[in-house]
Amino acid sequence: MRGDKRWLANLAVAAASALLFAAAFAGLLWAGASAAQTAQMAPGADSADSADNADLDACRRRLDAGGAQIDRDCLRRVYALPIEQWPRPLTDPGARWSELAPLPRQAPHPPGHPPDPAKVALGKRLFEDPRLSGSGQIACANCHDSELGWGDGRSVPFGHDRQRGRRNAPSVAMSGFAAHLFWDGRASTLEEQVLHPLTDPREMAARPAAVLRALRRDESYRRQYAQAFGSPGIDLARTAQALAGFQRSLVPRFNRFDRFLEGNRGALDDRELWGLHLFRTRARCMNCHSGATLSDDGFHNLGLHFYGRKLQDLGRYEVTGDPADSGKFKTPSLRNVAKTGPWMHNGRFATLRGVVNLYNAGMPRPQPSPQQIGDPLFPQPDPLLHRLDLHRTELEAITAFLETL
Ligand code: HEC
Ligand code: HEC
Repeated sequence: MRGDKRWLANLAVAAASALLFAAAFAGLLWAGASAAQTAQMAPGADSADSADNADLDACRRRLDAGGAQIDRDCLRRVYALPIEQWPRPLTDPGARWSELAPLPRQAPHPPGHPPDPAKVALGKRLFEDPRLSGSGQIACANCHDSELGWGDGRSVPFGHDRQRGRRNAPSVAMSGFAAHLFWDGRASTLEEQVLHPLTDPREMAARPAAVLRALRRDESYRRQYAQAFGSPGIDLARTAQALAGFQRSLVPRFNRFDRFLEGNRGALDDRELWGLHLFRTRARCMNCHSGATLSDDGFHNLGLHFYGRKLQDLGRYEVTGDPADSGKFKTPSLRNVAKTGPWMHNGRFATLRGVVNLYNAGMPRPQPSPQQIGDPLFPQPDPLLHRLDLHRTELEAITAFLETL
């Protein structure tokens, strides 16, 4: 039912954007068509071809120039080409990037655990069941709500006894693709991850033995586990597998960006396409957000660590103990990012535009106080971050692009 609705909504969005596109750019298409006709009529196909190529090169150069406007005709022409011929991403030495790509229909599954509808159904039921918590009142879905982009819409969640958590509840829709889970990467598989929220005193505060007892008492769970795993028995490993299988099934679909990458170049409007171009080039986002998931699976310090202050969070360092990791957080996937606000590990950004503005300024760069000078734990700014000095309309274009993901 919900899937149908989403599909319909997507269809409506697609139809609306197709109409807008047609209306706004009929003139532009018309100009393009007559240019093509002129080219066809020119004597000698070879000279027409090389004139076209020279034209395209001129177009590419024109796209490099920044400012309040972009040559929309050139933008369309260059991005109508196959992806290998798009402007190369502007990245810095040390960046681990890969080309943008449509999201696979399925998240990778661990060997021996192929996607399985019975396990997914069981996982979904467990995900929504508050009996998995110590109080019997908090389900995974409380903090990872399908209606809120699989996050909870708050800067930090309320958990057991309405205690505030320390970090923002991220979307779990892309977790099946992530090499590291949690903002600090402290778990590496979904199966391993499950125990953390279950037993975290600030989240579900459950005792696994008590949860298993409650599930075993329920005849319908006994049946469902037996059906999903081929033999009777309810244990923690199976519970984790079912929850993991459900989360791997949440791959976002029908995003406009995917349709664009798959060849429907009308799926993005001019401004969104401009945003994509900037994302690849002068905004340097692909230094860290690239590939199908729009993440490098790495950890970076964006200057949001509050070192030495009440809100201090040193992120990855808390897991590895390596001072070089101080203040670093996982690069999240940007798929569905418009639905997963508020943003960043601390949920302190209420708008995407605010995030983009801060990237434009090069992100905060807290300086050590006199007592902190020489402190090896003082987080170092990431060399892949720069002040961008983009124009206001360019920042709007990037924000519009983020909304297509
Ligand atoms: C009280 C709110 C809350 C509840 C309940 C909760 N989570 Fe979370 N979840 C969070 C927060 C906060 C984080 C990020 C914590 C961090 O990174 O340190 C998180 C992170 C995750 C992640 C990592 C996502 C990623 O890509 O890094 C997964 C997966 C996840 N939770 C699944 C679950 C499952 C499964 C359950 C139920 C067993 C659950 N959560 C219950 C708040 C919650
Ligand atoms: C140096 C690597 C790096 C670069 C360059 C970078 N990002 Fe990020 N991005 C990250 C990391 C790491 C986080 C999470 C940081 C945190 O929460 O402390 C993040 C978070 C985000 C978020 C919030 C996602 C969420 O779910 O909360 C958005 C949106 C975002 N980046 C967009 C962009 C855009 C747009 C650009 C280009 C202007 C960009 N990023 C450039 C590494 C990077």
